[in-house]
Amino acid sequence: MRYTIQAIEPVKETSDCLVVGVFKAGKLCKAAAQLDEASQGAIRAILAKGDLVEEIGNTLLLYSLPGIASTRVLLVYCGEESIKFADFRKIVCCIASTLKGKPLEKITYCLTHLAVEDLAFAAQVRYTVECIEDCFYTFDQFKTKKANTQQPKEMVFDVAAEMDLTAVENALTQALAISNAKNLAKDLANTPANICTPAYMAEQAEKLGEAVGLTVTVLDKKAIVNEGMGAFLAVAQGSEQPPYFVVLEYMGAEEKRKPIVWVGKGVTFDAGGLCIKPSLGMEEMKFDMGGAASVYALMQAVKQLNLPINVVGITPLTENLPSGTAIKPGDIVTSLSGQTIEILNTDAEGRLILADALTYSERFNPELVIDMATLTGAIIVALGGVATGLMSNDECLAADLEAAGKQSHDRVWSLPLWDDYQEQIDSNIADVANVGSDGGKSITAACFLARFTKKFKWAHLDIAGTAWKSGKEKKATGRPVALLVQFLINRCGTF
Ligand code: BES
Ligand code: MN
Ligand code: ZN
Repeated sequence: MRYTIQAIEPVKETSDCLVVGVFKAGKLCKAAAQLDEASQGAIRAILAKGDLVEEIGNTLLLYSLPGIASTRVLLVYCGEESIKFADFRKIVCCIASTLKGKPLEKITYCLTHLAVEDLAFAAQVRYTVECIEDCFYTFDQFKTKKANTQQPKEMVFDVAAEMDLTAVENALTQALAISNAKNLAKDLANTPANICTPAYMAEQAEKLGEAVGLTVTVLDKKAIVNEGMGAFLAVAQGSEQPPYFVVLEYMGAEEKRKPIVWVGKGVTFDAGGLCIKPSLGMEEMKFDMGGAASVYALMQAVKQLNLPINVVGITPLTENLPSGTAIKPGDIVTSLSGQTIEILNTDAEGRLILADALTYSERFNPELVIDMATLTGAIIVALGGVATGLMSNDECLAADLEAAGKQSHDRVWSLPLWDDYQEQIDSNIADVANVGSDGGKSITAACFLARFTKKFKWAHLDIAGTAWKSGKEKKATGRPVALLVQFLINRCGTF
């Protein structure tokens, strides 16, 4: 959908749908009150019939009100005039699902006087766009009968003349970059593993690079062997699909400025290897490349926003399958860093491929490195689908991510990365073991990574619970794209 901002007069506005608010006890928002007056009380008369039950987000769509130029008016119940963010999001989602699939050329959004916690109007516009785009997202590439392809075409935000238009325009630009990026991440993660193979992911990276102008380097198996990425190759050796290692580069600042490096786990299917997973729910392991998908998405957003910063994205891509050539529990491999790893559990493959990718990132002399990975089931037990698990070797970096999480409502929660957990992954015959011997599985996974990130500031995001929703309605969420775009915007000081 296209989005614009404009000061409008609700009564005269010719739109296919005016969106206006109703508060507690039938109080009307400013625009709704004007419409009511122009229609000689039509809105209050309808409300008096009681169809709009006073529950946050309930809607009532009205047609052809007398004296009003627009063809439809959507009443939305908003509760108190001052509301919590969660209610705000619910309201926007309800509006979006009411309008989804309707042949509307133009929607005019007049709900611009809501007091949402301490959210400025510009920020409200941004979340509204993100929410609507989330709601309008469909993935029907593999349906022979496509979903309803009709979609509203344009949304006009009514802004009061005294508002800071530059801030609102910035918010719109950012919202579109974030939403486009999230859609890319969702598309990739939703694509099944028979199509979304390591080769497919590498191809998509190349296509993205060509389309938007990023430098893309693809290392094939031979090059990966030459580099000496023994941990990454150990995971890949059980699959007939060749692995790829993709590096994307964006230069928005002087060459000498140190880059921010993203590393994304790209396991296009995780069957667990010889330590095979149970069949129930195994299909969800097609999402195990959600980290890599988010890295591509981030690179696209950074480019779209032309951020004055250098950024590198690194994605190791492989499957994790059982076969006659697969790694076996007890095998010892040598990582790119030179550290030897005893592989006790072949299902703890993410940390193996990340170890080599993190070591590889050293050569970019990074300002900081952030990895994102669907790394542990344990993080779902701890945090569910609400917060991404955050573990970092730098307190300032962790604090910046927490702040960006709050602002973007793509939130993180910190877990400790104390040395006390390190002894769990000591091995008696190699330098390190790939799983811990006791509890705290998400933390010991991060402790493993920490052994490969000593040379730079680093944060690890465990997105196993947040990158997708499981169950029958399984789908990718596009997280943590909004979080990390916000993090970058904050660093560039433009929001
Ligand atoms: N990709 C999984 C993590 C995962 C599990 C994501 C469930 C989403 C839902 C990862 O590779 C894995 O298998 N982790 C193991 C680690 C264990 C063997 C220490 C896990 O969490 O069970
Ligand atoms: Mn696994
Ligand atoms: Zn995995």
